[in-house]
Amino acid sequence: MHIKICEVGPRDGLQNHVKAVGTADKITMIDTLSTCGFYSIETTSFVSPKWVPKMADAPDVMAGIARPPHTKYIVLTPNVTGFERAVVHNPDAIVIFPACSEQFCNRNLNATKRQAFDRFASVAKLAYDHNIPIKGSLSCAGYCPYAGDIAPSVVADDVQRLLDMGCAEIGLADTVGKMTADVSKSVLDRVLKYVSAEKLSGHFHDTDNLALSNVEVYIQAGVTLFDSAVLGLGGCPFANGAEGNLNTRKLIQYLCDNAHTTDVCLDTLAHAEARIRTFV
Ligand code: HMG
Ligand code: MG
Repeated sequence: MHIKICEVGPRDGLQNHVKAVGTADKITMIDTLSTCGFYSIETTSFVSPKWVPKMADAPDVMAGIARPPHTKYIVLTPNVTGFERAVVHNPDAIVIFPACSEQFCNRNLNATKRQAFDRFASVAKLAYDHNIPIKGSLSCAGYCPYAGDIAPSVVADDVQRLLDMGCAEIGLADTVGKMTADVSKSVLDRVLKYVSAEKLSGHFHDTDNLALSNVEVYIQAGVTLFDSAVLGLGGCPFANGAEGNLNTRKLIQYLCDNAHTTDVCLDTLAHAEARIRTFV
């Protein structure tokens, strides 16, 4: 199977990183990753700088990066304010990111779940009007650090709502890396009644080394797009216990070992890792 990879290191990897990474280094990071052949790079997020100070330089990052045409440069937008800040930088897609649990919407978005979905519907409508593709990234798609297990039927309902908003892609996220392959399987069994596998992607934090078993379940179900982060960076400031994302190298090595292909060159990635290691 040919697998596409969205590199989320510059966004998920740096939003809560222990070290402050300057804007020039972020631009170097993205430009270096751009040489690797990723399908897309989550470049930054136009969220509230009070909530997430490490993403306050989103406009400068977008203005400073080179954008070779083989990669899509996508950004998170939490509300209409974020969309308006982002749209002037012509992102290749925007990411809206509600959660399956009431508690995580509250902590991450300062909103009830209903308010969060309503807010993202307004963003999606604007994106549609601007002809910008929308990715819906659904946090806690099976497990929430505050609410515990999330029923597959809840995930499926939320996926349906994102489809109704016009999402071209829906990413199912294991926000804190606690979902087992069995949980992923139950979620997918239900979700795939409403959406085809080609529209889905997987986003797995790798806290308990479970990410690859989830990747395997998703690939078996026909999913061919995954998020991962260079050097395994990552974590959400509002999700207790969210360790790094699935390491991009670990993902690619696993795919190679299992006779899958990607467009990302491991040698080029090694150069990028060496460069990025100097400032993270
Ligand atoms: P709020 O404080 O309720 O916002 O935050 P508000 O609408 O009440 O506005 C308050 C002030 O913030 C106003 O300014 C707004 O203009 C300003 P003031 O009048 O006081 O001067 N403001 C903004 N400024 C710049 N950009 C904006 C923006 N919005 C408001 N976009 C809000 C609500 C949603 C904005 C906030 O909670 C927020 O930014 N949340 C995002 C949190 C975040 O980035 N989390 C990490 C990303 S999600 C993630 O990592 C999960 C994922 O990886 C998948 C997974 O693993 O699960 C995707
Ligand atoms: Mg994440």
